[in-house]
Amino acid sequence: MITIIGAGKVGSAAAFNILRYRISDVVLIDIFENLAKGEALDMMQTAPAIEFDGKIVGTSDFSAMKDSEIVILTAGEARKPGMTRIDLMNKNAAIVKSVVKEIVKYAPDCKLMVVTNPVDIMTYVAYKESGFERNRVFGMGNILDTLRFRSYIATELNVSREDVRALVIGEHGDSMVPLVEYASVSGIPITKLLKEEQIEKIVNLTVSSGADVIKLKGSTTYAPAATIAIMADAILRGRNRVMSVSTVLQGEYGFSDVSIGVPVVLGRNGIERILELKLMPKTKKFFEKSVLTIKEAIKKLG
Ligand code: 2OP
Repeated sequence: MITIIGAGKVGSAAAFNILRYRISDVVLIDIFENLAKGEALDMMQTAPAIEFDGKIVGTSDFSAMKDSEIVILTAGEARKPGMTRIDLMNKNAAIVKSVVKEIVKYAPDCKLMVVTNPVDIMTYVAYKESGFERNRVFGMGNILDTLRFRSYIATELNVSREDVRALVIGEHGDSMVPLVEYASVSGIPITKLLKEEQIEKIVNLTVSSGADVIKLKGSTTYAPAATIAIMADAILRGRNRVMSVSTVLQGEYGFSDVSIGVPVVLGRNGIERILELKLMPKTKKFFEKSVLTIKEAIKKLG
């Protein structure tokens, strides 16, 4: 069973994806009980139309997550006008800490997927607060960035998005690092298909893509929700998929005591292993800068 904490736009859309792709039953928890109940009821009424038999329960009772295999944490605030990233960080860190206490109590063996922003920092907070082994605590961020990177490459080349393979590492934020040197179209390096200025445009679009959507509609919903379902599927079905997730480093890539997006094998135990890639000197520099950005923010945690 999968529990999603936070029945806002991302949490409820993720629940719907998990149901419709028949990945698991879902418990949707929110402190606003009517919101969680209403979303659950709405989804159940869709079941005959799109033919899923999975069950969804909406509640404000944390004990309903008992023994979940995966708990997905989406609760938290989005940045409001006048709020700095640090304000948001401290506010959401308090929420994450209090919810993690409930998770440890009711689902002590779960894999904990953090979605709340700023996700790399919240993953670090959840790791520290839970006391879970690091393979069981990870953040959803860079896979979403990767989907956006792949989409923009496919659009530029007018080829199927399915054939574009790529990775983004680093912070899920402005210092993210799309790995141009490892991006390909059916195995053909993109550097052989695109000019330097085209690649630069794609990289810039990838970095700003979340903010571009937020500017237009206030928040992102479908892309993060779909990404959560992809990760849940990889874990529950033990698919050992290779994707970048926010992971607590213990010496990998030369860093420790920070959670940041790196490529991992995602399977039944959560992070089965971390893949350490050789990076080009320029890319390595960008990645190091990204690590320092997150480390600086962690220092400012209240
Ligand atoms: C996104 O990138 C805001 O983290 C969210 O869609």
